[in-house]
Amino acid sequence: MKKFLTLSLGSAALALTLGMVSGAYAADGAELFKVKTCWACHGKDANTPIMPTYPKLAGQNADYAFNQMKDIKSGARNNGQTAAMKGVMGLVSEEEMRAIADWLGTL
Ligand code: HEC
Repeated sequence: MKKFLTLSLGSAALALTLGMVSGAYAADGAELFKVKTCWACHGKDANTPIMPTYPKLAGQNADYAFNQMKDIKSGARNNGQTAAMKGVMGLVSEEEMRAIADWLGTL
């Protein structure tokens, strides 16, 4: 009985930790979107870009968004408009892109 109690407490703690980790992950994406100045071009809600030709990002597929960020950073995606964003991507790691992309996908 004692052993059972310890075990179930252990897994409850684990579930709690996992829940907290995934919660923090989503919050990080939103936070990074501000800290890395993404919102300055794409809008605070990721849906009201400052220029009509800039893309809306809210609700975008997370894997797609992640790949576009990687390609813009590496230069694989390169057109007249990507130059605007490329500079800032030097300050964004792949892990951070992933967190932002996952957050965008939830909007
Ligand atoms: C200086 C303005 C600017 C900043 C800052 C900026 N972007 Fe962009 N972003 C753009 C422009 C312009 C495009 C469209 C590029 C093109 O036409 O290929 C774009 C494209 C994208 C795309 C691809 C969208 C699609 O539908 O293919 C994603 C995702 C994205 N930005 C995310 C971000 C994130 C995340 C940040 C912050 C780390 C950021 N951007 C910062 C201007 C900016």
